[in-house]
Amino acid sequence: MGLEDTVKASSSSSDATMRDTTNEWHPPQDGGLREVGKAFLMACLVMAPILGFGGREVYKTWKGQEDARLAAIKYGRAHADLVAAPALPLLSVEEATHGRDLFARACVACHGADARGVQGLGKNLLESNFVATQDDEQLKQFLITGRPNAKPVGMPPKAGRDDLADEDLRHLVVYMRGLQDPRRMPALPAMVADAPPTAAQQDAALAAAGGDKELAGYIASGDKLFHSSCIACHGKGGVGIAGNGKALANNEFIRSLDDDSLLAFIKQGRSPSDPKNTTGIQMPPKGGNPAMSDDDILDVIAYLRTLQGTKPGTPGGK
Ligand code: HEC
Ligand code: HEC
Repeated sequence: MGLEDTVKASSSSSDATMRDTTNEWHPPQDGGLREVGKAFLMACLVMAPILGFGGREVYKTWKGQEDARLAAIKYGRAHADLVAAPALPLLSVEEATHGRDLFARACVACHGADARGVQGLGKNLLESNFVATQDDEQLKQFLITGRPNAKPVGMPPKAGRDDLADEDLRHLVVYMRGLQDPRRMPALPAMVADAPPTAAQQDAALAAAGGDKELAGYIASGDKLFHSSCIACHGKGGVGIAGNGKALANNEFIRSLDDDSLLAFIKQGRSPSDPKNTTGIQMPPKGGNPAMSDDDILDVIAYLRTLQGTKPGTPGGK
């Protein structure tokens, strides 16, 4: 029986072979399939680089968009992530205190005393995702470059304070870390008085006051205050900053007002909605520094008078 089966199988296979050798056409069987397979393989070989290349491009575009989308989501919650994560170590009291004192003089005008930003001026730094995503070195570098071309108002390089040293900038960064995450902010002592006017400021003041030591004291103090609180928008020596505060040297408006009226003006500022505003930018009340007393502002006025070139013995000589 086993033998019979083997014979049958071999005879049927030889039948098929015999049929294959006839000249009659018959529908392609396995041989046809082989042809189709070959053709398919060829097609694949030809198409593979094309499809592969195109596919890679499509994938790359998709991946790029996807990466950008994910990065944007990550960036958008950088600050929220920071405060949700376990707190980083407490900041140094000395560094944070120094940073805060600098911030109160150099940054409040545009970012506000609470650092939550000022409408039309600087941004909110407490919840800034930008700050949260930068390391200390990058943030320091940002302060050096600023964003002078931002609209409607730029962030001036070093906040307009060319006297800020590397260490000052580092301490500002430390303070910003504390603003971003209050868990890291140590208790800070009261604000430290600003450094006295420099020798150069005192000399210039004495010359401008024609030797009047008392007046020179006010002028030097005003010079110091001006170059810490007003300089960001009005420039060194009051020359003005394009796209921000007007020139205050040789200024008609200042010349036209007595000290009391000028004091009143500086305390009030000039909002963009004020019909007298010509820049569309806010002159913040007290120049944005709420800590400034009337006496401080009068000192600044005494300094501004020396820039008008109208009094005897003042720079400008007339
Ligand atoms: C004359 C106004 C002005 C002063 C002064 C100023 N800034 Fe700014 N700052 C801006 C503006 C405007 C922007 C936003 C620019 C923009 O639109 O991208 C900004 C942006 C920033 C940013 C980036 C915030 C973000 O989320 O993108 C940081 C950080 C910053 N300022 C820190 C400081 C510090 C610290 C000081 C003080 C040393 C300071 N600024 C002083 C106007 C100012
Ligand atoms: C955040 C920027 C900013 C700061 C800081 C700032 N100012 Fe101004 N200030 C301006 C702008 C902008 C104007 C012009 C407003 C306008 O269009 O009339 C102006 C106008 C003035 C004017 C009127 C000038 C004129 O010709 O009409 C005086 C005076 C003045 N500022 C004094 C000061 C003093 C003093 C300080 C510091 C205590 C100070 N400002 C700080 C932005 C600033």
